[in-house]
Amino acid sequence: MTLAAPLNPHLVDTATPPIPEAQGWARAYDGRRGPLIDLSQAVPGTPPPAAMLARLAEAAARPDMARYGAIVGDKVLREGYAAESSRFYGAAIRPEEVAITAGCNQAFVCTVMALARAGDNVLLPTPWYFNHEMTLNMLGVEPRPLPCSPESGFVPDVATAEALIDARTRAIVLITPNNPTGAVYSPETIAAFAALCRRRGLWLLLDETYREFLPDAVGAPHGLFAEADWQDHLIGLFSFSKSYAVPGWRLGAITAGESVMAEIGKVLDCVQISPVRSGQEAVAWAIDGIRDWRAGNRREINARAEAFRAAMAPLPGWRVLAAGAYFAYLAHPFPGIRAAEVVRRLVEERGVLALPGPYFGPDQERHLRIAIANIGADRLAELGDRLAGFTIA
Ligand SMILES: Cc1ncc(COP(=O)(O)O)c(C=O)c1O
Repeated sequence: MTLAAPLNPHLVDTATPPIPEAQGWARAYDGRRGPLIDLSQAVPGTPPPAAMLARLAEAAARPDMARYGAIVGDKVLREGYAAESSRFYGAAIRPEEVAITAGCNQAFVCTVMALARAGDNVLLPTPWYFNHEMTLNMLGVEPRPLPCSPESGFVPDVATAEALIDARTRAIVLITPNNPTGAVYSPETIAAFAALCRRRGLWLLLDETYREFLPDAVGAPHGLFAEADWQDHLIGLFSFSKSYAVPGWRLGAITAGESVMAEIGKVLDCVQISPVRSGQEAVAWAIDGIRDWRAGNRREINARAEAFRAAMAPLPGWRVLAAGAYFAYLAHPFPGIRAAEVVRRLVEERGVLALPGPYFGPDQERHLRIAIANIGADRLAELGDRLAGFTIA
């Protein structure tokens, strides 16, 4: 007689990462319409510049890089990132207010652990970024959906959010530019959420992984880091994966006041001890070293958003509900058919892989997410031909 050893039910009840499932469907595509157009995962389509790779190699060859570094990241990158964020937001963020993490997903996990405990809840605008929802679930923190409608361009509404707050609400998470929709929230919307958090004693957790892909014309996306006492209610998250094109280096950042950072530091010590050091050296150099390359990349990604809209415009029934920095969110023309079925058939018959809306939360069966960043504008133009005449009987 053996007694089954139980697992953590919070974790068991958490969904498995969804992207591999969709990538599995792509294996059924026989190539009949040309090479697969993979619009599933948000990965940079271009490698980082050679000079940056050379910096990594140089740093990796240094014996001191093999030693443990500082828990919250090496000074060189904390200083570099604090200066860069200060420039970006027109603020005065200090290096002590920055922690470097093994990617922005880790930044989110560590930050949530500092803010909430099991039984608390955190408001997540839906459609949501599935790793945020998964993180909250596995920690026993309720991801409380804050529904965003296509009519509002998937921008969350402050009054709706306020009505969802109760005594166990600890934070509101905003992602702008947004994954999965591509929506860019206005400075006024972001400020209104910050004011709500101030008024109700909550944290605003602002994930700006895609901040460098805002169109050229847009200035600072908000002024929150320039406000007095921002440290009492605001925490910023960033990823170097996308704009520096180094998702495999696993580097992200948290911007927070020193007292909350001291708590986050305890988690970081347990989960990473210190972030990978050679990558920090290379990225610290790249903040200035590849500035022009990043600007060019931003223009290219924005051109892709235009190419995508142009490719979709003539297709009857398909509607682009939002499109921005890295993503577009679509309504498919097949009411009553599950989004997963649309995606499966689309990839099998037309060689186009998107992600089904329900990966991103409740009430998303009519929607598909498209990552426009990892495919060139020429191939996006081909999309119109691939989708033309596609139907599900
Ligand atoms: C909104 C958002 N946050 C965080 C991440 C994770 O980034 P990282 O590679 O730095 O962990 C992603 C990646 O897709 C993302 O879309």
